[in-house]
Amino acid sequence: MATPKEIFALPIDPVIKGERVHFTLPPARFYEEIGGEEGMRELMYAFYDKIYESEIAHFFPQDEAEFEQVKIKNSRFFIQICGGPKVYEEEAQGMDLNEYMIRVHDDFSITEKARVEWLGTMREALAAKATHVDIETLRAFWDYLNSFSKLTVNSFADGSVCYAAYEAGDIVP
Ligand code: HEM
Repeated sequence: MATPKEIFALPIDPVIKGERVHFTLPPARFYEEIGGEEGMRELMYAFYDKIYESEIAHFFPQDEAEFEQVKIKNSRFFIQICGGPKVYEEEAQGMDLNEYMIRVHDDFSITEKARVEWLGTMREALAAKATHVDIETLRAFWDYLNSFSKLTVNSFADGSVCYAAYEAGDIVP
């Protein structure tokens, strides 16, 4: 169990331009405790409904059918990255899943401010849909989001652009 207060206290560490990011993949127990495929889908749909109301809504498709596709793909990605069934596999077309996910974001000018809004929106979705998950399990899932999201930031306050490098060795077992 986790309280909304504990969830809203999950930390957001600042991104440092060009810094190598190490991260640990989310644990399978998060996938199990959230409620498998159905639970993950519910969480991610709630997340994207909140994204629609957020300051980063403009990054996402305004067309409902296109937005639905993002919701579907996003749910599948999180199911797979948490160790569930490999339902996202073919999207990456043979590319390493982490590398692929970083490169998907290269098409958008993502700033630290946008990342903080994204993570803040995810905290809201978790507070609404994941209080039945053990807080330590949630912390492990959050560690992944907090770290991995740094790799999606490519646009900096000084106007410069920097696309994250990635190597398989950046994953901490
Ligand atoms: C832990 C960090 C993140 C993960 C795991 C993640 C995951 C994903 C996934 C799975 C997709 C769908 C890819 C597909 O089409 O198959 C996606 C798309 C996208 N994400 Fe992220 N994301 C993260 C952080 C962010 C952040 C910080 C932003 C900031 C704005 C962002 C903006 C977007 C946008 C704009 C799209 C594309 C929507 C479109 O297709 O038009 N993401 N992300």
